[in-house]
Amino acid sequence: MKRPTADTVIDYIVEIFERRGAEAYLGDAVTMSEHMLQSAANAERTGAPAVEVAAALLHDVGHFAGEFPEDMIEAGADNRHDAVGARILQPFFPPGVTEPVRLHVAAKRYLCTVDASYFGRLSPASQETFRLQGGPMTPDEVARFESERHRGAAVRVRMWDDEGKSVDSEPRPLAHYVPLLRSLLVSPPAGRR
Ligand SMILES: [Fe+2]
Repeated sequence: MKRPTADTVIDYIVEIFERRGAEAYLGDAVTMSEHMLQSAANAERTGAPAVEVAAALLHDVGHFAGEFPEDMIEAGADNRHDAVGARILQPFFPPGVTEPVRLHVAAKRYLCTVDASYFGRLSPASQETFRLQGGPMTPDEVARFESERHRGAAVRVRMWDDEGKSVDSEPRPLAHYVPLLRSLLVSPPAGRR
């Protein structure tokens, strides 16, 4: 497996989503690519900054961890798709992108804890994983989440994520987001410095 570099990582990610995007998104009615594109479109529609659009687009990249070299994944205690996704993206994108990815499951638990009505708005599959992901937060976990610098963006990405499961939406194609992703690379590809 070839290791992505700053020069190749965008094409690397696009290729994975093109090859595997038709897979079902967990238990929901949308495919992986429909879900990620709808999440990004939801972010764009609100006028979100580029980092948050990118985070919405890439938040579930950790589900494709097997597509990346093992040393990028650093298998360890915390190998859930949120932490793994952030680790995959971290060499290439700024914290404004990677932190909401890392926190997007915590943000679901946070929203369900501080807003009793939020759980009812989740899809059935997301309600099911909520229990597996730890259910409601303890007061300590709430305090820790609220101390995160990128908590606001994480909550917004989470809401775009939860709204990104509609069967009759026609989001923009992945190619639309490539320039935005390129503009965010922390180490610009050779020739673009
Ligand atoms: Fe998602």
